[in-house]
Amino acid sequence: MKSLCTVHLLGKQMVRSFEKVRQEEINSVMEKLEIASSSSLPVNLSDVLLNMSNDVICRIAMGRKYSREENTSNFENQLRKVMELLGSFPVGDYIPGLAWIDKVRGLDRKMEEVSKTFVEFLERVVQEHVDEGENKETFDFVDMLLRIQREKTNGFELDRSDIRLIILDIFLGGTTTTFTAIDWAMTLLIRHPESMKKLQDEIRTYSRNKLYVSEEEVKNMKYLKAVIKEVLRLHPPGPLLIPRQLSEDVKLKGYDIVAGTMVFINAWAIHRDIAKWGQDAEEFKPERHLDLPLNFQGQDFNFIPFGSGRRICPGINFATTLIEVALANFVYRFNWRVENRLLGDDDEYYLAETTGIEVCRKFPLIAFPSFASFTI
Ligand code: HEM
Repeated sequence: MKSLCTVHLLGKQMVRSFEKVRQEEINSVMEKLEIASSSSLPVNLSDVLLNMSNDVICRIAMGRKYSREENTSNFENQLRKVMELLGSFPVGDYIPGLAWIDKVRGLDRKMEEVSKTFVEFLERVVQEHVDEGENKETFDFVDMLLRIQREKTNGFELDRSDIRLIILDIFLGGTTTTFTAIDWAMTLLIRHPESMKKLQDEIRTYSRNKLYVSEEEVKNMKYLKAVIKEVLRLHPPGPLLIPRQLSEDVKLKGYDIVAGTMVFINAWAIHRDIAKWGQDAEEFKPERHLDLPLNFQGQDFNFIPFGSGRRICPGINFATTLIEVALANFVYRFNWRVENRLLGDDDEYYLAETTGIEVCRKFPLIAFPSFASFTI
C-alpha cells in the first residue's frame, strides 16, 4: 500500500503535477492577507494555514475541498480532536487491569464519537466517488483506490473499510503536520527579525517584482531550505514519531528489552541534544544547516523529523514542496509583526505547545501582514 501511495500520490513526479492546486490555494491565502494588510487588521494565521493544508490535501487526494467554507462544518475541529486523542495515553493499553480509568475519564466515549464522525465523513467521500464514476475531468487518489478495488490488479483485495482507512491515513498524516510546520516557521521568523530579513532578501533576489514566487524559483533558495530544516529540528510536528513494537529481544546500553515492548523515539529531545547540536541547540539558527549535508531521509539519526527506516514518512516531497513555496510567498510580499503582549511572558505564549501525537502551537498565531515597500 505504501508503494501504491507513493506512485499515485506522493512520488516526485505526482507531487510536481499538483503545482497548480498549490498555487491556487496559496493565492487564495494571499488574497486574505492583502485584505488584512490594506485594512491594517490581524489575521489568525494558524487558522488560515490549517485551512490551506486541509484544502490542498483534500483537492489532491479526494478531488475537491471538504473544508468549513464548503459547509462540512466543524471538520477541522474533528481533526484536532483526533490528533489529541491519538496523542493521549490510553492507560488500558499498558495496564489492562486499569482500563476502567479510560472509561471514567471519557476517553473511550470520545474515541467512539470521533471515530463515528470520521467513518461517516469518509464513507460520504467514497460514495460520492462511486456515484460520479470515472467519467469526469480529474482522476484523483480515491478514484485510483476504487479502480484497484474493482480490477484487483495489485495482488491483494481492498474492501470499503480499507479504502476509508487509507484516505484517513493520508489525511491525518498530511494535514496537521504540514500546517504546523508552516505555523512554527512563521512564528520563529517573526520572533527572529534578522532571519526573516535574510530570508526575504534571498527570495526577493530570486524573484523580483512578481506577484507569485514559483516552485522553480524556490528550488535555488538555500536559506529558505535551511530555515525549514531548523524549524523541523526545533519543532518536529511528530515529536515521538510513530510508536514501534520490538520484533525481537534487544540489548541496549546494558538493558534487556524483550520482544513486544512498545518503543517511542523522542525526536524532539534528539534534535535538542547539545552533544550533537552544540550549546546553542535550543536556539533558532538556520545558518547551522548551510554547511551541514543533512537531508530528510533519516540516515543521520540526529535529525529525523520525518522518521527513519521502513516506516519513514512517505509524504516528505509532498510536504516540503508545499511548505517551501507557501512560506516563500507569505514572506515575499508581506512584512509581519505580532501585537506586543501587555501581560505574561512572550516566550511562554509564542512557544507554548499542545499535547498530542502531533504538536502544534498551543495558542493561535495572530499576526499583522503589511505590504513590503517594493510591492507598493
Ligand atoms: C512537515 C510535514 C510532515 C512531517 C513532519 C511528517 C512526519 C512524519 C513522521 C515522523 C512519521 C512517522 C515516521 C516514523 O515513525 O519513522 C510520518 C508517517 C507518515 N506520514 Fe508524514 N509527515 C509530514 C507530512 C506528510 C504528508 C504531507 C503526508 C501525506 C500526504 C504524510 C503521510 C504520512 C503517512 C501515510 C505516514 C505513515 C507511514 C507508515 O506508517 O508507514 N506525511 N510522517
